Amino acid sequence: MQDIFPHGETQVLNTDYKKLRMIDKIKNLSGEIEALKATTEKEIEELRIKYLSKKGEISQLFGEFRNVPNEMKREVGQLLNELKNSATDKINSLKGSMQAEASSGNDMDLTLPASPIKLGSRHPLSVVKNEIIDIFTRLGFTISEGPEVEDDWHVFSALNFPEEHPARDMQDTFFIEKNPDILLRTHTSSVQVRVMENEQPPIRTISPGRVFRNEAISARAHCIFHQVEGLYIDENVSFADLKQTLLYFAQEMFGKETQIRLRPSFFPFTEPSAEMDVTCNLCGGKGCNVCKYTGWLEILGCGMVDPNVLKSNNIDSEKYTGFAFGMGVERIAMLKFGVNDLRLFFENDVRFLDQFKAAY
Ligand code: PHE
Repeated sequence: MQDIFPHGETQVLNTDYKKLRMIDKIKNLSGEIEALKATTEKEIEELRIKYLSKKGEISQLFGEFRNVPNEMKREVGQLLNELKNSATDKINSLKGSMQAEASSGNDMDLTLPASPIKLGSRHPLSVVKNEIIDIFTRLGFTISEGPEVEDDWHVFSALNFPEEHPARDMQDTFFIEKNPDILLRTHTSSVQVRVMENEQPPIRTISPGRVFRNEAISARAHCIFHQVEGLYIDENVSFADLKQTLLYFAQEMFGKETQIRLRPSFFPFTEPSAEMDVTCNLCGGKGCNVCKYTGWLEILGCGMVDPNVLKSNNIDSEKYTGFAFGMGVERIAMLKFGVNDLRLFFENDVRFLDQFKAAY
């Protein structure tokens, strides 16, 4: 009897059929997996179980793989492995994008210690200014303040600077263009004029404040800086009082062992005038590069109030005498803290300012 389905043929049909079924299934699954979406961890885990667990759809295909005829195993096996790999990748990428989303959103960990609140601190110039004020208020000085934009009278004329006198050039002045009578004060002596206008002796006052001079900005000078000036007017005020007051100030500010020396100088509003040096607080007077190997540092100008100044301000110069002094706050701060560039005080870099926190 003739076999209409010789063994070989049947086998071929059978084989193609099985192979096609497997390949279709793999393709379908592969498309399905490619399109998977999930937003929660639970959903992703359900998909993993559906496709990749021991009883999952891909594992089932591996089970069916046993029935694939030997000669097809290579091709189908390769497709199956690819399917398994791409499904694993897909699940992992779903997990990855979910975690990325989670960390970009609500990632607050309430158990972490709070970051410390950064406290500000006083500016070193304020620290020094307050210390100067403290020292003089202990001696009974009051504090007086006045305007930064002043007139010629209070800054110069009332202080015995004659008009056109070269002494006016000692302090390079910013004038207001439209009215040269109005200017930015070059020293706070102007405040003392205002005090003398309004009060009769005894006067014992210091005037801290900001002053302006048309100077090139460098490590040692600035066009804006701060002063504390002092004025003491009473009966029988002598140069000895001036000297003792300033010695007390120097020792309170720089230490008990500090010595002072007074060198003759000139200011229009004082006669005699002097500049005061203190022993260098860095080398103790032995000599170093801060005091330029002299052992001394200049810190202020001073003198006995010129009778002309008292007269200009309607104070009886026969009855009263007085002394005055003036110092730069920046200069004292530089010497006290060992700061070698005055500009640092104005840059307000917190890394610089923070360093004065510990001390005060
Ligand atoms: N006013 C002077 C200055 O600014 C300082 C000073 C004040 C000098 C009082 C003597 C007396 O340079």
